[in-house]
Amino acid sequence: MALSKKPVMAALLLLLLITSQGKSVPLDTYTFPSNKFIFVVQSIGVNYGTTADDLPPATEVIALFKTSGIGKMRIFDPNQATPQALKGSSISVIVGVVNNDLQGLATSPAAANDWVQTNISPYLPNVNISYIAAGNEIKPSDPLAQYVGPAMQNLYNAVTSSNFPTQIKVSTIIDMSSMGNTYPPSSGSFSDNASAYINAIASFLIGVDNLTIIVTETGWPSDGGVAATVDNVGTYYKNLISHVNNGTLKRPGPLETYLFAMFDEDQKAVQSIGVNYGTIADDLPLATELPDVNISYIAAGNEIKPNDPLAQYVGPAMQNLYNGVTSSNFPTQIKVSTVIDMSLMGNTYPPSSSSFSDNASAYINAIASFLVSTKAPLLANVYPYFAYLSDPTDIKLDYALLNSSGVVVQDGNLGYQNLFDAMMDSLYSALEKIGAGNLIVIVTETGWPSDGGVAATVDDAGTY
Ligand SMILES: *[C@@H]1O[C@H](CO)[C@@H](O)[C@H](O)[C@H]1NC(C)=O
Ligand SMILES: *[C@@H]1O[C@H](CO)[C@@H](O)[C@H](O)[C@H]1NC(C)=O
Ligand SMILES: *[C@@H]1O[C@H](CO)[C@@H](O)[C@H](O)[C@H]1NC(C)=O
Ligand SMILES: *[C@@H]1O[C@H](CO)[C@@H](O)[C@H](O)[C@H]1NC(C)=O
Ligand SMILES: *[C@@H]1O[C@H](CO)[C@@H](O)[C@H](O)[C@H]1NC(C)=O
Ligand SMILES: *[C@@H]1O[C@H](CO)[C@@H](O)[C@H](O)[C@H]1NC(C)=O
Ligand SMILES: *[C@@H]1O[C@H](CO)[C@@H](O)[C@H](O)[C@H]1NC(C)=O
Repeated sequence: MALSKKPVMAALLLLLLITSQGKSVPLDTYTFPSNKFIFVVQSIGVNYGTTADDLPPATEVIALFKTSGIGKMRIFDPNQATPQALKGSSISVIVGVVNNDLQGLATSPAAANDWVQTNISPYLPNVNISYIAAGNEIKPSDPLAQYVGPAMQNLYNAVTSSNFPTQIKVSTIIDMSSMGNTYPPSSGSFSDNASAYINAIASFLIGVDNLTIIVTETGWPSDGGVAATVDNVGTYYKNLISHVNNGTLKRPGPLETYLFAMFDEDQKAVQSIGVNYGTIADDLPLATELPDVNISYIAAGNEIKPNDPLAQYVGPAMQNLYNGVTSSNFPTQIKVSTVIDMSLMGNTYPPSSSSFSDNASAYINAIASFLVSTKAPLLANVYPYFAYLSDPTDIKLDYALLNSSGVVVQDGNLGYQNLFDAMMDSLYSALEKIGAGNLIVIVTETGWPSDGGVAATVDDAGTY
């Protein structure tokens, strides 16, 4: 069995699958479940609700929208933090009016004007505000229903008299409970109970026959009900996202649609699964707990090969950065290093006999002696997957997935149950042979692909 160099083509594939956040991705690229939910479909927006404790600060959430390619957002109330953080971005935002404010806005034009001056004006023209949603899912029988129309009217008057540069529209959000007949679609009509309410809203919005409809919420539950599974959530989102650009049979063309929601919100009566699935709100630090940025390492270069013309610059760049850091009197101990990959290895089997390849020797020697002298760690990208891929008949999948229950490789008195340990020990052995046995190694990348290759399945990625 040999741990050989990882094929470059496969490395590119994995980079896209596992570390594509922050990089530009092709249209329709999509992964789920994952906390790196990526889609670039123009008509898609995402609800940004905050009914959870310990959510990241708005600035981080907006950064997440950007890196995920999400161009539209809906917020439920006119909080200050979100539009503040949206300044200068092109992300458009629907700003909600909370239901309890409807009565005041409906009965007082001055209150509506105040609302607009407080919650919209300060952010123009730097925030791309698309709609003001006066109320959310008010039912016709709700005592607040009478205020929806007049609140929309007063807000509209306030908006139009403010000479805003953008065309901000005022509307409200209904749910499907106002429907009476729904089958077949061509016989659809509102219920008798809802009719006066809907008529008033629709006539305010004007152009009843061809009113534009925006889907402000849609989603699927992951738990707690019939067919409520994470898999079904993934299937629903995946199909929906690729579908909405086509619209419906009656109204072909893009249908603007907002997924529910960005985060798993743990303080809602019905817990929702977020688009950003896996980012458990409870695990995130409170904004107030965030220290000044805790920078650990500066990584000068990533996976530079010894024969790359850039290789000659790695050592000198580290040295100059190190000089820059040490002369800056930083309070923290920021280390300067570089990121290598396992292609520098020559022998890798057994781990104790491992060494760097002849070609890599001058390159890694220079790096190692710099790191030893500055007491900095070596950063390494370690993928058992590529080692497995190089010899899938001799290397057992269980061993590569760290899923073996017994020793697979005996190396002297050391019994290896998994390939990850063997690869790391190979690297340590190789470092010992060049006098750098005490270097700390940080694994800066590892992962397993979920698709597009041998043994590349969601299950295997999960096991790994
Ligand atoms: C505002 O958002 C809309 C819809 O997402 C987008 O088409 C438009 O380009 C954005 N405008 C600016 C100025 O960024
Ligand atoms: C419709 O209104 C009637 C009378 O107000 C009420 O009894 C009934 O429950 C309502 N139906 C629905 C579906 O809301
Ligand atoms: C709405 O429908 C009318 C009549 O069918 C048409 O003239 C008008 O252009 C339509 N407006 C929009 C925004 O589609
Ligand atoms: C969308 O419409 C295009 C063009 O008609 C078609 O090729 C494509 O399959 C449709 N996509 C979906 C998801 O319906
Ligand atoms: C900075 O990060 C390191 C490593 O994660 C951690 O041990 C340390 O406590 C952090 N320091 C501060 C001030 O948060
Ligand atoms: C090692 O270097 C030689 C000569 O520069 C080159 O022909 C060979 O391909 C290199 N081997 C590896 C594994 O990079
Ligand atoms: C991992 O090991 C467990 C326990 O032996 C087994 O049930 C499971 O099927 C294994 N998973 C894989 C992907 O081999």
